[in-house]
Amino acid sequence: MDEIKGLILSGGSGTRLRPITHTYAKQLVPVANKPVLFYGIEALVEAGVTDIGIIIAPHTGDEVREAVGDGSAFGAKITYIEQDKPAGLAHAVLTAEEFLGDSPFVMYLGDNLLRDGVPGLVERFREETLDAMILLTRVDDPSSFGVAELEGEKVVRLVEKPKDPPSDMALVGVYLFSPLILDAARRLEPSDRGELEITEAIQVLIDEGRDVRSEVVAGWWKDTGQLSDMLEANRLVLDDIGSRLDGEIDDSRVEGRVIIEAGARVRNSLVRGPAVIGRDAVVEDAYIGPYTSIGDGVKVLNSEIEHSILLAGSSVENLGARIEASLLGREVKVTRSDSLPRTMRLLVGDRAEIEIV
Ligand code: G1P
Repeated sequence: MDEIKGLILSGGSGTRLRPITHTYAKQLVPVANKPVLFYGIEALVEAGVTDIGIIIAPHTGDEVREAVGDGSAFGAKITYIEQDKPAGLAHAVLTAEEFLGDSPFVMYLGDNLLRDGVPGLVERFREETLDAMILLTRVDDPSSFGVAELEGEKVVRLVEKPKDPPSDMALVGVYLFSPLILDAARRLEPSDRGELEITEAIQVLIDEGRDVRSEVVAGWWKDTGQLSDMLEANRLVLDDIGSRLDGEIDDSRVEGRVIIEAGARVRNSLVRGPAVIGRDAVVEDAYIGPYTSIGDGVKVLNSEIEHSILLAGSSVENLGARIEASLLGREVKVTRSDSLPRTMRLLVGDRAEIEIV
């Protein structure tokens, strides 16, 4: 069998994570201070897949290129492929036709996180010369996903975002394909949401009697498309971290598993893990609670934060209330002033969400 290539999708407009994604590729939003996309690249490399194409969108592509580079930092060789419009996963595959050539490949949606990676899956695909292999997991809301109907391990039918789901087995955003998928994708018409659906392309293979197999994900899986998923992914990843205290810690208590990066300063504070505090962050007279990721250069002064993600360069000062279940973008400032009258003064970008209790 030819060498298996990797295809990571990092285009898409990330509408469900606005306003963060107005200025930022959703795949670069960090989970435990590491961009979601990096977990995907690492998962492929770990499975021995190092020739990787990354599909990028015109408006966020440069940022992705800058973050990932040529792939050498990951032990991979990266080829960037621009998709001019977000016209569906099967469209993305067709866009990558030249890169893929005649190779079988793993397609990995760049906003997906899988605890146990993909090594077992890639191994099985290599050994069994299948036409396609999909990953499945049980979900509570199958109508938000592609859904599979199974007979044993054999997939008999796939439907994208069904109103009336045939099962609760959702398609995880990792797929293994032989080059046959390209032919199938070429034969598709746009779906009701105007996209060439990979789910339909796989259905073409099934209808032709090809060997399409499924495997149920062992560890957890998260699609980080929206805030609640992002926070949940952050929680799940932080649950597995160890402790490493490289920063400066004065007059503070650090409880549980906490990573404090070099250059960070924690003073007169309580940090209760699992939590990460990025490089050059400053935490003073503060409480950082469980499941919090504090990005590089963030300042938390005289404030309390829990179960949240603060992106690089943001600051939270003198708040009288605890911030919880929140995601602050880059260089966001949240402060309280002592001046009268006691009003709120806000300078907030498009589609921001603020909940005051
Ligand atoms: C896509 C696929 C869907 C799959 C999901 C997994 O949906 O179309 O079949 O279940 O990824 O993340 P989208 O995220 O484009 O809505």
